[in-house]
Parts: sequence; C-alpha cells; structure tokens
Amino acid sequence: MTVVSHLSHLRLVPSILSADFAKLGAEVRAVQEAGADLIHFDVMDNHYVPNLTIGPLVCEAIRPHVDLPIDVHLMVEPVDALIPLFAKAGANIITFHPEASRHIDRTLSLIKDQGCKAGLVFNPATSLEYMDYVMDKLDIVLLMSVNPGFGGQHFIETTLSKIKLARQKIQAWTLKGGQDIWLEVDGGIKIENIARIAQAGADTFVAGSAIFGAPDADGGYKTVIQQLRKALA
Ligand code: DX5
Ligand code: ZN
Repeated sequence: MTVVSHLSHLRLVPSILSADFAKLGAEVRAVQEAGADLIHFDVMDNHYVPNLTIGPLVCEAIRPHVDLPIDVHLMVEPVDALIPLFAKAGANIITFHPEASRHIDRTLSLIKDQGCKAGLVFNPATSLEYMDYVMDKLDIVLLMSVNPGFGGQHFIETTLSKIKLARQKIQAWTLKGGQDIWLEVDGGIKIENIARIAQAGADTFVAGSAIFGAPDADGGYKTVIQQLRKALA
C-alpha cells in the first residue's frame, strides 16, 4: 500500500480567538472569502485553562455565516456534557484534552455518535501515549505548540520533534490499513515558521493572531492566507 504524503493536502485554519468579537459573523465570512479551510473555535472555561471564551450559543450564531467546517477545540473540564450541545450548534470537528476526561475512549465515542469528527489535543508536555489505544477512533490529532489559554504566544520549538513522532504513529497506522488521521498544530504559527512545521509532519495549521492581526492596509486576511500558502509551497 502506498502512503500519500501529508504535504499533498494542507489546511489553513484561522482561530477566531483573535477575531473581533463585536462582529464575529463578518469576521468568519471574511476568512472564508480569503481562502480558509476550516474555522477554529476555542472554548475555554476558566477551570481547565485560566481564561474564559465562548460556548455553543456562539457556535450556533456563526454557523449560518459560513459553509466551512467548524473545528471546536474544547479547553474545558469536564468535557462530555458540552459535546451534544456543540454538535447541535453545528460543530463538525470536536477535540478535547485527554487530561480533562475521565474516560477518553467514551468521550471520543460520544463525539462520533453525535456525527462529528473526533480528536485528542496534546499540551506541550503531554505524552502522545494517549493516542495508542484509541487510534481507530481518531479523525484528528491536535498538538499544542503553546500552553493553552491565550492567543499571541510564541511557538515552542520542542513541538517539532513531537510532530515528527505523531506523524510516525499516524503513518504506521495508515500503513496497517487504518483510516486517515489529520495532524493539526495550534499556537504561534506564523509565515516565518509554518514551512518547518509542515516539514515536521503537520497537515493542518491553526493561526489566530497571524491571520486576524493582519493589517487591512497590507491586504488583510486574503494576503496573509496567500502568504501562508506560499510559505507552505
Ligand atoms: C490557544 C488556542 C489557539 C490560539 C492560537 O489556547 O488554542 O487556538 O487561538 O493563537 P495564535 O495563533 O495567536 O498563537
Ligand atoms: Zn485552539
């Protein structure tokens, strides 16, 4: 069996954490128009992470504004009760941190039973071993390249070796006939480092401040998304 290179299909994912919350509908329409592949939706609860953001009501409110899949990143504890609410609110992908769930396998099944793609999120110092016994239930693996809770932080360089390891695990799995698993990276991704992150093995790139912080004077979201794609090419 031949394995298709992860570089053949790369996805750019604006994180609305850095968007203007006073006009979120217009913001998600603008990044869709600018060529984004997914919308990243950061949910923080002031318990699992020291910050508080948005929930299912906001997901439901932006849903009619875009056709793109909504990628919900749950930084909450406990996890399970929110899953049906986000599925109903129009989420397409739901990921959670394994430390925040007592029963990881059950939580993954719950997400899939609700008709969404499911994934685990790994903090910079969380072991990838959590993947090993649930490979069959993973649609996506998300590696944090910053400590979760805030946008605009610096990329942690040790993530690169972890991306390589995660890519090896995924490749070994697909070679055995397993399903495709996306490898997403989140935190501190910029035009300057995205190529290295792709080379290490990532195929899906979350960018908050790099995209929503792009000045209108320089062509705004369209220009920065084009520049990120150019850096990937
Ligand atoms: C951090 C969030 C990220 C954040 C990334 O906890 O999970 O999605 O928005 O922001 P940047 O790209 O600015 O590091
Ligand atoms: Zn995120």
